[in-house]
Amino acid sequence: MPTALVTGATAGIGHAFASQLAARGHDLVLVARDDVRLAEVAAELSTAHGVSVETLAADLVQPDQLALVEARLADASQPVDLLVNNAGFGLKKRFLDNPVDAEHAMLDVLVTAVLRLSHAALGPMAARGSGGIINVSSVAAFLPRGTYGAAKAWVNSFSEWAAHEYRAQGVTVMALCPGFTKTEFHTRMDVTPGTGFMWLDVDFLVEAALKDFDKGRVYSIPGAHYKAIAGLTRLIPSRALQAYQSIGRK
Ligand SMILES: NC(=O)c1ccc[n+]([C@@H]2O[C@H](COP(=O)([O-])OP(=O)(O)OC[C@H]3O[C@@H](n4cnc5c(N)ncnc54)[C@H](OP(=O)(O)O)[C@@H]3O)[C@@H](O)[C@H]2O)c1
Repeated sequence: MPTALVTGATAGIGHAFASQLAARGHDLVLVARDDVRLAEVAAELSTAHGVSVETLAADLVQPDQLALVEARLADASQPVDLLVNNAGFGLKKRFLDNPVDAEHAMLDVLVTAVLRLSHAALGPMAARGSGGIINVSSVAAFLPRGTYGAAKAWVNSFSEWAAHEYRAQGVTVMALCPGFTKTEFHTRMDVTPGTGFMWLDVDFLVEAALKDFDKGRVYSIPGAHYKAIAGLTRLIPSRALQAYQSIGRK
């Protein structure tokens, strides 16, 4: 059976990836900080889908804990076929109102962990001539959304480059750019989640993402309205887009 390693697998988008990949017959390696919750999700998914589920408790901000996940990905004796770089969080306040350490921790999870885990995974995948990486980015990557948007823009740029660089070696890389999605993300940020058509269902999002990945797409932007927004951002001057940067942060 193929094996998928999913970061941030205990909630929201990562949990939906773990669940849908298990339903497709993937064994799993689940990564998050809360080990009690990791054990609960592992039991839930192995019972529901009859797959083998390993857990790896790690705070991706901490280099020594991130190194444990890198080592698991690099272990050729237990190959990982699909890496889902999903763990992430946002900060409610504006740049200068956040301690710089909080900004740095966000950058570590959104960028440094994606870079280091991709590096660890790509070596064995390229050597085997097969594998895949899904990097969970955001529609915010196309918009002026402070340091969060800047980090996600890095994820898009990196994924687009890696998709072309490693395609010939049999590795598929895709950036998933969700719009607002119903998960724990906003409550963890102390922002009240919204309702209505702009808020995507997490299972719909991941189903659409996996279909795009199966087709070898470089980007997945689920939802017709978010595809339209991403397209429009290429036409509207950045100065005009700045006016919309606080949407979803109240
Ligand atoms: N929801 C949205 O509207 C939305 C929109 C666009 C993009 N995204 C992106 O989607 C991804 C997943 O977000 P989500 O909405 O599913 O959030 P979520 O429901 O809050 O889940 C976040 C997951 O990441 C884990 N995590 C957080 N910090 C971590 C750390 N330092 N080390 C290891 N694991 C960590 C959490 O588990 P522990 O707390 O146990 O570590 C949890 O499993 C993120 O990259 C986010 O930027 C979300």
